[in-house]
Amino acid sequence: MGRFDGRIAVVTGAARGIGFATAQRFAEEGARVAILDLDESSAAEAAAKLGEGHIGIGCNVSDGPSVDAAVERVVSELGGIHILINNAGVTRDNLLFKMTEEDWDLVMGVHLKGAFLMTKAAQKHFVTQKYGKIVNLSSVSALGNRGQANYSAAKMGIQGFTRTLGIELGPYGVNANAIAPGFIATEMTDATAARVGIPVDEFRAMTAERNPVKRVGFPEDIAAAAAFLCSDEASYITGQTLYVDGGAKLVS
Ligand code: NAI
Repeated sequence: MGRFDGRIAVVTGAARGIGFATAQRFAEEGARVAILDLDESSAAEAAAKLGEGHIGIGCNVSDGPSVDAAVERVVSELGGIHILINNAGVTRDNLLFKMTEEDWDLVMGVHLKGAFLMTKAAQKHFVTQKYGKIVNLSSVSALGNRGQANYSAAKMGIQGFTRTLGIELGPYGVNANAIAPGFIATEMTDATAARVGIPVDEFRAMTAERNPVKRVGFPEDIAAAAAFLCSDEASYITGQTLYVDGGAKLVS
């Protein structure tokens, strides 16, 4: 028996990276999964890799009508919604004096407004059925990171948003928590390596060397934490941010 038998999970930005690994973990543990991502065919391709009974939906999480339509499709095609992972993300790094208004708005729009719109659309189902699990992706960058004024503000905003969800939705059987990953080897961090002009392997090795557990993180590390926080064993945990970073926060 899987921990998520009979459950329906939505993972945003899950065509690749942390989102895909999380979708895979929920599927392995019995859930039917909806993968939401910008491009419908990439989302559908990723869903097909999970096997039968999962779906991929094209959705821009920063657009209200797109979010509402996607959540309604999940409910009509899979028969409900029990778990929401707000994972979709982008970076537009630059030092403050070079950061454009567009780069600020895009990052806020995907991370913060995206989590707000998705959660608002899902919570009406959660509240009615008196059951729901929400995990929002924050980051160690929430604590401040050179070149990421937009991203760190959004990721700390996610932590405040999560605490408030814990307070407002707790009485309705809904748990909301955040995960703040440290360095996770994905295309997002590979792009950072390219931006600073360091080969990917070298960049990962340098990061591992600075980390207390002497390795980088992998998408599966985050998927495991998300699965725990969405399990019924974790029903007394809400409004929290769990740092999954190999101890990076302790030494930064
Ligand atoms: P990634 O760049 O590999 O994947 C992000 C996915 O989000 C992509 O499939 C992309 O198409 C999708 N996406 C972007 N904008 C979207 C939108 N408006 N609507 C729907 N989907 C959209 O990123 P990765 O590394 O897997 O990160 C996942 C989450 O984890 C992000 O929220 C990121 O900020 C967070 N995170 C990642 C860390 C890392 O080291 N990789 C560290 C800390 C947090």
